[in-house]
Amino acid sequence: MKKRYFCKRLNETLNFDAQKVFYCCATRTGPSIDVPKPKNIKDIIKRRNSLIKMLDRGIIPEECKGCFDLEEQKNPKPLLISQLSKPPKANMIIVKHFKQCDCSCIYCCEQYLSGRKIVLKSKKSDYYDLLPIIKELYKQNMIDKKELDVHFQGGNVSVLDEFNDLVNIFMSNGVKRVEIATNGIKYLPQIERICKDTFVDVNISIDAGCRETYKKIKTVDKFDDLIENLKKYAKLPILLRLKYILVRGVNDNKEEIEKYLMLMKEIGIKNSELMIDQCDNEFLQNGEFKIPDYYYELFEFYQTKAKEFDIEPHIWEYIKEILDKGAFFK
Ligand SMILES: C[S@@+](CC[C@H](N)C(=O)[O-])C[C@H]1O[C@@H](n2cnc3c(N)ncnc32)[C@H](O)[C@@H]1O
Ligand code: SF4
Ligand code: SF4
Repeated sequence: MKKRYFCKRLNETLNFDAQKVFYCCATRTGPSIDVPKPKNIKDIIKRRNSLIKMLDRGIIPEECKGCFDLEEQKNPKPLLISQLSKPPKANMIIVKHFKQCDCSCIYCCEQYLSGRKIVLKSKKSDYYDLLPIIKELYKQNMIDKKELDVHFQGGNVSVLDEFNDLVNIFMSNGVKRVEIATNGIKYLPQIERICKDTFVDVNISIDAGCRETYKKIKTVDKFDDLIENLKKYAKLPILLRLKYILVRGVNDNKEEIEKYLMLMKEIGIKNSELMIDQCDNEFLQNGEFKIPDYYYELFEFYQTKAKEFDIEPHIWEYIKEILDKGAFFK
């Protein structure tokens, strides 16, 4: 029997990027559509329906080939067109239609679009306004209000003009969860307001345990500001996660990792993640990112030390897979 496929993300996600709207999260570059004008908002559904139908007929779009989120339909029965006339509503919205930032991390995968200019005052996105589109999505009943999970990425929201208005529209419609990835250089008072009514996850890449290393990675001298803000965030009823991205030749050593964990302990932050720099082209050997042997030792060290300091050391599944394979893409 002919195989038929399904993707949950495709049905539920709207990822607003600079030039396109993707139907899956930031770690995939799956099918997309050009950003529609609010009056053409239904184009989002039309394109999604055609993708759902394609998968149902066993045709995998080029952008989905090899994706581990693709599921084979277990009990295939013909997809009813009537189901598609009432398409699933979006329950995950990712905001990354701007690339401006108030620092310029040497590893940043996004900043090539902003020319790596450090922006201090909030400004409009260089690409498009998202607020009118979100308003139209609500008006056309295309959002699952009860289940909505909003992720702010970017760029850094502290310099996004629309941030306040976007927070307001999501909050006034009853969002279930808000995740904010930020560099933490500027305190976001909006978080205090959001966390009164909904679950908030704030994640911050600090990547260092001291001012010198921080400056080398972030290219701005804002370590002290960040620490002050972390102390304030640590007092709020939110999930606060700190991240450390291993950057080759800069912070890829035990001393810095220990300083970072010590700092977390001092501030009283419990959740930590250790990641690998995904853009480091120096890893590229024969078309593959090879993980250096000493990285395995660093991951071991990180987990042992974190437990000693009573910190939860998290390593994402996809990072574990990369470590198991010994390379990024195999
Ligand atoms: C592009 S940032 C935007 C949000 C915010 N400015 C921040 O830094 O958290 C989104 C996430 O991507 C991560 N990121 C950026 N470049 C990366 C890289 N080369 N390797 C791994 N993660 C990266 C950042 O740490 C951040 O958590
Ligand atoms: S199968 Fe993968 S690439 Fe395709 S829409 Fe789903 S998550 Fe995105
Ligand atoms: S803070 Fe985020 S957006 Fe800004 S340069 Fe760093 S990773 Fe990129």
